[in-house]
Amino acid sequence: MVLHRAKDYNDMSRKAANVISAKVILKPDSVLGLATGSTPEGTYKQLIEWYKKGDIDFSQTKAVNLDEYKGLSKEDEQSYAWFMKTKLFEHININLENTYIPNGLAENEEAECTRYDKLIKDLGGVDLQLLGIGTNGHIGFNEPNEFFQKGTHCVKLTDETINMNSRFFESMDLVPKYAYSMGIQTIMGAKSILLIASGKAKANALYETVYGNIRPSVPGTILQLHPDVTIIADEEALSVIKEKGLLK
Ligand code: PGA
Repeated sequence: MVLHRAKDYNDMSRKAANVISAKVILKPDSVLGLATGSTPEGTYKQLIEWYKKGDIDFSQTKAVNLDEYKGLSKEDEQSYAWFMKTKLFEHININLENTYIPNGLAENEEAECTRYDKLIKDLGGVDLQLLGIGTNGHIGFNEPNEFFQKGTHCVKLTDETINMNSRFFESMDLVPKYAYSMGIQTIMGAKSILLIASGKAKANALYETVYGNIRPSVPGTILQLHPDVTIIADEEALSVIKEKGLLK
């Protein structure tokens, strides 16, 4: 794991966008594994800005997303498909046919998971996987568990995650309780991983992810076993690591 310090959210976003844009420049037909949530929004804004300036070309790039709420259609404004469309895809020249996300309305849960795993395999795997980290250490929607889930699966979201996500919904009742998520094996199969973290709320999860024992109760800890993980975190997200004297 290589840990890069960023001053604040904007600095983290710019640095992360630099890593993604370098990947796309060096390998225009990259398969990018993308994430939703508040953390990557600034990164996507920066990529859009550089695209508009003519610095990046996404015409050959493919994108597979980490997760999607179960029960929401891709036209639902709370869906992650909608998030990706409005926060990134419709502002750049990626071919929408080359963008993939689990189908929240799939009738057969198991078939949908199998389909998504096969799709990623058929694309040749993920070149660069962007990840956020949950306050409980989840990656994608791989929630704390007694074991690591390997493939794409449907997960019951924890109360902590539902609570965190409720800020995007009008009421608690509307927050989906289940989601599809890429599994740990798929995430670990990415050639490179870029994890971004901002804010004090993430500081403990980040400390555990980098220095904690590897355990499914803090899913992010598995990343310690991946050979190519870059972490870009701002000073607040690094605060616990700093308090413990592990970073000056
Ligand atoms: P956030 O979520 O970016 O909205 O904080 C990150 C995550 O839960 O993985």
